[in-house]
Amino acid sequence: MALYMKAAEILEKVEQKKGAVKTLVYDSKFQNIKQLFALVCETQKYSSILQEIINSTKLLKETKLRIHLAKVLVYDLLIGRGVKCGGAWKTTMLKHRSRLESALARIKIKKKVSRNQDLLPSGSQQTQGNIIPRYVRVNSLKTTLDDVIDYLKREGFSYQGTTMRLEDLDHLSGKTFLCDLHLKDLLVFSSKTDFHNHFLYKAGHIILQDKASCLPAFLLNPPVGSHVIDACAAPGNKTSHLAAIMKNKGKLFAFDLDAKRLSTMSTLLLRAGVTCHQLANQDFLKVDPLSSEYKEVKYILLDPSCSGSGMVCLRDEVSEPQKDGRLQALAAFQLHCLKHALQFPQVQRVVYSTCSVHTQENEEVVSACLQHNPGFRLVHLLPNWHERGHDPLTQCLRASTAKTRTHGFFVAMLERRPLQTDGQNLPMITTLPVGGEEKQDTPQSSPSDEERETSQTANELPANPSSKKRRNRKKHKKQEP
Ligand SMILES: C[S@@+](CC[C@H](N)C(=O)[O-])C[C@H]1O[C@@H](n2cnc3c(N)ncnc32)[C@H](O)[C@@H]1O
Repeated sequence: MALYMKAAEILEKVEQKKGAVKTLVYDSKFQNIKQLFALVCETQKYSSILQEIINSTKLLKETKLRIHLAKVLVYDLLIGRGVKCGGAWKTTMLKHRSRLESALARIKIKKKVSRNQDLLPSGSQQTQGNIIPRYVRVNSLKTTLDDVIDYLKREGFSYQGTTMRLEDLDHLSGKTFLCDLHLKDLLVFSSKTDFHNHFLYKAGHIILQDKASCLPAFLLNPPVGSHVIDACAAPGNKTSHLAAIMKNKGKLFAFDLDAKRLSTMSTLLLRAGVTCHQLANQDFLKVDPLSSEYKEVKYILLDPSCSGSGMVCLRDEVSEPQKDGRLQALAAFQLHCLKHALQFPQVQRVVYSTCSVHTQENEEVVSACLQHNPGFRLVHLLPNWHERGHDPLTQCLRASTAKTRTHGFFVAMLERRPLQTDGQNLPMITTLPVGGEEKQDTPQSSPSDEERETSQTANELPANPSSKKRRNRKKHKKQEP
């Protein structure tokens, strides 16, 4: 019984995007982790089919079961190993068994398939999910990249140097690992590698974070000692990344509406050795930009609630009209947050990110915001990143399993235009190409605002401070036996 209750609890959190399956399962302290993990994953995979069965048999009304528990029990009864617990739930499920079986059979007939697995959407998500590698961010507040690499080598892992091509990631297997091409503190392992029980993870030396989710803090790149806001911060992976970049110096104001998520975040930040933060259980939209507390805030990371449609394991379970309404509401909220972020008087750069693949939550939000804020423009991010924002917002980045071996993601960086001496905003900005020296300011001819906002040659990401070190590492690698 405990297994089903725990699985239902985790499934609910996953569907509410409150965490990743693996993390929630491991944090649950459940005795049989493997069994729990398998049950949650499988139920989640069949979630929309289970929902259909439950709806058509009116199971919730008949049994008073809650939806997530019903899904788990129906999964095990019809597709899994049969309901194994004793007691009331088993009796209930057996009572409704034939109706449930008939509902499943009807769906199979309708879809013209004979096997349960053929009911799953044909392949793409599942296959893609299998090829997202395991990304591990080294927490520089607690350790160094070299120390982690050495530690892992002593444990029998084999370090293969820096990734050169996307395809390198598909050949990772067993205990081999690589250093990521774009993010110097990111290591890449085969998707099957599990660090949840590893000392380095438990001690906060490594953070298990998808590469795409590491982009926002990396791109914002707040200087050591700066004042930064993480507007929608929990559970705090990006907050701890920002703190690491700031070397725990300066001020990191982190807000979140959800008290429970904030409390988890507090524990995670403690484990990660973050000390420069100030957590507030507050609606970011109600934070006063003119408060003296935030007068030095120049950098804001905004990663608001979104549809989560980029998360490979999350499925869209709502119908199209519902989805439309939900997307509209989310986009309106996201736009509101982004506009609010630009109200902070000293803010220079705002990174906006979502784990959504919908243009409505991404490019459309950014375009609408820029239309209302001509004093800001887009920064052309990572020129060597191939998956760009949808035309014309090609300065922004997109990520996907197929093109970047990550979850689906979107990142934009808005930058305040420099002021002319007469107080007007200048259409020119500093160009800092990746891995290069700072170039002189490049005045642009004066195209229309819209053209400037979408110009690809405008400005680029601050140089990756690690590039020199990386070259050394590669050299070093070549000397290794
Ligand atoms: C996508 S999650 C943030 C993930 C987080 N940035 C990380 O990397 O760990 C969005 C968060 O926004 C919070 N949120 C939603 N509306 C908010 C608001 N008005 N003000 C502050 N936080 C909000 C949610 O509670 C949720 O924790």
